[in-house]
Amino acid sequence: MDISAELESAINQQIGIEFSASHAYLSKAAYFERNAFDGFAEWMHQQSVEETAHAMKFYQYLNDRDGVVRIPAIEAPEWDYGSVLSVFESSLVQEREVTKSIYNLYKIATDEGDYATVSFLKWFVDEQVEEEKTVSDMIDKLKMADGNADSLLLLDRYALEQRSSEADA
Ligand SMILES: [Fe+2]
Ligand SMILES: [Fe+2]
Repeated sequence: MDISAELESAINQQIGIEFSASHAYLSKAAYFERNAFDGFAEWMHQQSVEETAHAMKFYQYLNDRDGVVRIPAIEAPEWDYGSVLSVFESSLVQEREVTKSIYNLYKIATDEGDYATVSFLKWFVDEQVEEEKTVSDMIDKLKMADGNADSLLLLDRYALEQRSSEADA
């Protein structure tokens, strides 16, 4: 079964959304590096790599289904942020938007009876639960820290440990 023109176009948009998430995380990694938060920088950097991998999953899927990949223009991300907390809050907003757009893809695929695409999208549905949870847990901890420098440095170390344990797993 050929992929529909509507799904092809929605998946191309999703490739753009994943790349722009990747750019946003990379910009946040650079912000943290400038401000000597090595753990948060590593955390954001790894997120950026993961988002590129998501874009590539969609890219490969569209190619596998004989669709035409047309990568859309990617807007420049923000590069300056008011606080550690605001960086993570902006990531949560972004992740929730990504979830919405995955749900929208899922709905189109379901309505069309394109069960190959429905099946392909399931991994992303589960992944978004994990992504939102990870970011929102960090927001809860940052709120507890309430801008206190000692606590922020502990959380920075925690972010680094969290990422290195994931990399080992
Ligand atoms: Fe993603
Ligand atoms: Fe994500």
